[in-house]
Amino acid sequence: MERIAVYPGSFDPVTNGHLDIIERGLRLFDKIIVAILYNPNKKSLFSVEERLDLLRISMADFNHRVEVDSFDGLLVEYASRRGAHAILRGMRAVSDFEYEFQLALMNRKLNREVQTVFLMTGLRWIFTSSSIIKEAAKFGGDIADMVPPVVHQRLAEKMAQCPPGT
Ligand code: PNS
Repeated sequence: MERIAVYPGSFDPVTNGHLDIIERGLRLFDKIIVAILYNPNKKSLFSVEERLDLLRISMADFNHRVEVDSFDGLLVEYASRRGAHAILRGMRAVSDFEYEFQLALMNRKLNREVQTVFLMTGLRWIFTSSSIIKEAAKFGGDIADMVPPVVHQRLAEKMAQCPPGT
């Protein structure tokens, strides 16, 4: 049986920390479906289509073992539909723990067949998050070594379109 995991998130945008989790996850799973939550209530910098594109380009090296998709509704229902028995999540610092714990427990209550697997983010990426990267990029901070090259370029383009204070 193929071991499939869903790696869900906002990925607004994908960072090197996310890629690190996918790389590690591929040592445990045959296939990883990176799934962007379609959430019209959450304000995002990149549209779902843009985020799908950024993920696809950033993961070109991972070939057929990684698929990129989007979903709405309940994560466990999406996982079951896609034949996945695991949800993959990255854990950075202790600050992530409470939210991740709640999410994992709720998902287990909703479907006991789907297991949540946490992987520790590499030390290098422990303070990296999409939000903090967007914040730094907005004010011209150098984030080149924290994101894939395509994300670096598209972030610069976005910031040029809507500079801070506009
Ligand atoms: O990158 P994020 O924003 O931390 O990812 C959060 C995500 C997408 C994993 C979470 O919000 C989610 O799974 N949402 C889908 C709805 C759902 O199933 N929620 C959990 C049970 S209420």
